[in-house]
Order: sequence, then C-alpha cells, then structure tokens
Amino acid sequence: MAERKKEEKEEKEPVKQLSIEDIPGVGEATAEKLREAGYDDMMTLAVASPKDLAEVSGIAEGIASKIIVAARKMADVGNFETGEEILERRREISKLTTGSKALDDLLGGGIETQSISEFYGEFGSGKTQIMHQLAVNATTPVDKGGFGSHVLLIDTENTFRPERIVQMSKAKGIDPEEVLKSIHVARAYNSHHQILLGEKAAEMTKEFPIRLLLVDSLTAHFRSEYMGRGSLAERQQLLNRHMHDLLRFGTIYNAAVAVTNQVSARPDVFFGDPTAPIGGNIVGHTATFRVYLRKSKAGKRIARLVDSPYLPEGEAVIQVGEDGISDVAPV
Ligand code: GTP
Ligand code: MG
Repeated sequence: MAERKKEEKEEKEPVKQLSIEDIPGVGEATAEKLREAGYDDMMTLAVASPKDLAEVSGIAEGIASKIIVAARKMADVGNFETGEEILERRREISKLTTGSKALDDLLGGGIETQSISEFYGEFGSGKTQIMHQLAVNATTPVDKGGFGSHVLLIDTENTFRPERIVQMSKAKGIDPEEVLKSIHVARAYNSHHQILLGEKAAEMTKEFPIRLLLVDSLTAHFRSEYMGRGSLAERQQLLNRHMHDLLRFGTIYNAAVAVTNQVSARPDVFFGDPTAPIGGNIVGHTATFRVYLRKSKAGKRIARLVDSPYLPEGEAVIQVGEDGISDVAPV
C-alpha cells in the first residue's frame, strides 16, 4: 500500500524534469539572471514573492510577477491540499535526536524536519553546543539514528569549532573526518549576507544531500545593526523574510532547521522581560518549537519547551560536557 502511494506520488511530480527555460518568456539571459539570484528551479520560483524576486534578480517587478504565475502553474503549487495530502507530507517528517533522550522526549522525539526549532537563552546556556551536536547527529547513518546527510551551518558569530565536532564524533564512535566533510559552514558577516546565505542554501542541495540547516545566531546581526525604535519595523520585516526562507528550505527538502537566539532586556524597549527572546512574535510564530535554555549546576542545563502547537509545555535537564549533549547521568 505504502509502495503504491509512493509510485503515484512520483508520477504526480514531473516538476523536476522541467527547467526554468521552459517558462514562457524566460530566455537565456533572463534564466541566467534568475540563476545568479538563486532562483534556479521551478519550485523556488513558484513560491517566490514578486518584490523579492525583482529586487535580487534585477528583473522588473511586472515580469517577475508573470514568471512566478507561470512557474506556479507548471509546478502545480498554490492549490489547496486536502487533509489527506498534508497528512501524507507530514508522514515524511523525520526527527533528529538532540543527543539527550530527555530533551528528545520533550520535543516529541527530537527536532523535526519541515519546521524550525529555536533554541534561546543567555550566553553560555549551551545553544552553540546544541548546534554542534545536531550537526554531528545529522551526519550519523540512518541505522544509528541520524539522517546520514550533510549539514549547512550559517555561522554569524564565528563560534563553529571543528575540534568540538571531532570530540563529539569520537564520543559517538563515528569517523570525525567523515563528519567534518559533511558539514558546510558559511560565515555570515552581516544580516544581509545572512539573508543571502539563507536564500542560497537550496543551491547546495544539488551537490550534497542536506537534511539539516543551522543558523547560529539567528538574531545577533539584526540586533546589533537595527538599534532603536525607528529601525524596529525594518528589522522585523527582514527577520520575517529570512525565517520564511529557512522554513521554505525545510519544507521543500524535508530538512530540519534549527536556529539560536539570545535573550535580553531588549534594546528596543526600556522595560520588558529580560528572559524574552529577541525578535519577539516574528520569530515565535515561524518557529514550531521554542526551547528556552537556562544554566544550572555542573554543566547541566534546563531546557523548557515554550509555546508548542501540539506538545505539552515541560522541562528536561540535559548535560553539556566534553562528549557533547547527553542526559544527566543517574546518581
Ligand atoms: P552565546 O553564544 O554566548 O549566547 O552562548 P551559547 O548559549 O551559544 O553557549 P555555548 O553553547 O557556547 O556554551 C558554552 C558552554 O558549553 C561553556 O560554558 C561550557 O560549559 C560548555 N562547553 C563548551 N565547550 C565545551 C567543551 O569542550 N567541553 C566541555 N566540557 N564543555 C564545553
Ligand atoms: Mg553561541
């Protein structure tokens, strides 16, 4: 039964054979502009917004709009899906272990593909350590609980440490060199660069089987570049666009997306909750899972699941140590 469903589905998806030159009105020159801007397949074009497409490709907005409409028809998107179809897509969701069974249980089995998981907390709360651990776990073969895939990391704070990957890989008994070869790191120098890298992530899937996209930190550049009330709206708009790029990547490639975020008494408000994550509702509404990390004694961290659509709120205690993220050893 499952086999038959799969065959039917493959028949229904001739999209991949079409190239963007098949879109009426897209000649060689336009195709080149589109490709340079990162819009190089039907699906990416179909889900683009005319304004964004015009902005990054240099094509007039009216033409961009026509291209998108045509791509939507050809890619057969923009239609309503039945509940059954959505269920079918959701059946493809897989979960990736965080390294801690307690945290996995809190998340309903681990972080999910097709959605964004946000880890937020103060400095030293273990966000970057979790990103490293997820990267290692994703490269682990499927029969050992991983995705057997490659990983993209957008590193905005220059905190990626290959040495930590080596330690964590050894602790899992997997070849550190193989793991390092499967992790692709791009340093983002400012928020615009970060947005661009998010848009270009899809290109990497042509060469590598990527099932995990990490952004550490999601908000640091935005926070430092857009200070004060006057620039808040622009910051939120850009952040929103970036989050949707990330989510789109996760949905199209059935990949997990995990991001980190800081907390503070936000610079844009004078009074407020000092434990509130940056980016407020924009980030909160796009992230499916929000995990708040607090420091505890002796390398322990308390992870709290906040605002989940279908899981109960709760807490798990995890250990951050030499070997990476794990459960707290029973005493
Ligand atoms: P910011 O990015 O500054 O907001 O913090 P963060 O939440 O990303 O913190 P990070 O993940 O970098 O956590 C730092 C903590 O992880 C340190 O205080 C250590 O407790 C732990 N840690 C980092 N590296 C190691 C390591 O090699 N060995 C051990 N045992 N612990 C480590
Ligand atoms: Mg960090």
